[in-house]
Amino acid sequence: MISNTKIDSSICRYLIENMETAVLLFNSELKLTAINPAAENLLQASARMLLGQSHEAIFLHNTECHDILTTIQQENRTITEREIRLKLITGNTITIDFAATPLTRTQKVSDIIVEITQVDRLLRLAREEHLQEQYQATRQILKGIAHEVKNPLGGLRGAAQLLDMELENETQKEYTAVIIKEADRLSDLVDKMAGSNQPLEMKPVNIHICLEHVRTLISSEYPEMVNIITNYDPSLPEIPIDQDAMTQVILNISRNAVQAMLDSPESSSGEPNRLQLSTRPVGRFTIGNTPHRTILQIDIEDNGPGIEENLQAKVFYPLITNKPEGTGLGLSIVQNIINQHHGLIEFTSQPGKTVFSIFLPLAE
Ligand SMILES: Nc1ncnc2c1ncn2[C@@H]1O[C@H](COP(=O)(O)OP(=O)(O)OP(=O)(O)O)[C@@H](O)[C@H]1O
Ligand SMILES: [Mg+2]
Repeated sequence: MISNTKIDSSICRYLIENMETAVLLFNSELKLTAINPAAENLLQASARMLLGQSHEAIFLHNTECHDILTTIQQENRTITEREIRLKLITGNTITIDFAATPLTRTQKVSDIIVEITQVDRLLRLAREEHLQEQYQATRQILKGIAHEVKNPLGGLRGAAQLLDMELENETQKEYTAVIIKEADRLSDLVDKMAGSNQPLEMKPVNIHICLEHVRTLISSEYPEMVNIITNYDPSLPEIPIDQDAMTQVILNISRNAVQAMLDSPESSSGEPNRLQLSTRPVGRFTIGNTPHRTILQIDIEDNGPGIEENLQAKVFYPLITNKPEGTGLGLSIVQNIINQHHGLIEFTSQPGKTVFSIFLPLAE
């Protein structure tokens, strides 16, 4: 019990050292005078490196952090800013909530306490839940449409076949052949839109077999795309997947990347086109509501023009495409297969860097 008693400095130190929130203390010159282990962890730098440094050096000239600290010195009030993007010394960027409180002596701000909470994970979970809802709703609608379209289509095809048998004139037979071919194409399209109902054949597979298969396919399909870099973690164990379906996933994403790079002359930002396939294990990762001790992350990265901004929110929907010959089904099939594997797929995209990341649970 620490109520009613003034917290002595050793308890205070004990509390701060064990807090999950990152805490930093700046003096009146905005130089760092204290930092707890959570903050070292978050900033991915040691206290020895950071103590005595100016706030600009610590927050790498982030203007929002700078403005908050200088405003507090002038106005002597607590300021909280949500979802600030902060670049770290390591080059990674994280999203944080930033709360700063002035400590006053003789009415002047002497020190400022900064508390930082990393919110990437919370944002990711909320976004993932939203994507799942969207995905389930779309699947339901598409299954309904597929059912409604396929019934009359079957009748249409059957009637065309009967008619074909009655006809003797070869020119007229060409018309029935067109009806049958187009009915088959439409039936195939709605099947793909609704997603496969085939049960997956899950077997332990080394994921690098799928990746290497795709590398060979892409190299032969696009001989001009010579720069395929691989960065595999060979220690990864086998993972229970449907090998053909997972190869399809990696192929659809890689094809999109290569098509975007080759189709866009302005993508040549001086750098040669590059497709990179990487794998790595990730500890403690939650997919949906299920926490996993270790999962497998596959990244497929390209340095092409990036996904058009107006398409970014809907690329996983069927029929979303910016290609004259595209069906817009590639990524919707990908999402369907990843969901059947209880995995997760995300992307980040900007000109020069698009990364599709697939997360799959490893057998515990
Ligand atoms: N790496 C990428 N770079 C730029 N744009 C991309 C990338 N990946 C996907 N896209 C965009 O997302 C859209 C949807 O992709 P999706 O694979 O679902 O369909 P598609 O490639 O257009 O057609 P299909 O795969 O059926 O041939 C693409 O048309 C493209 O605009
Ligand atoms: Mg595609």
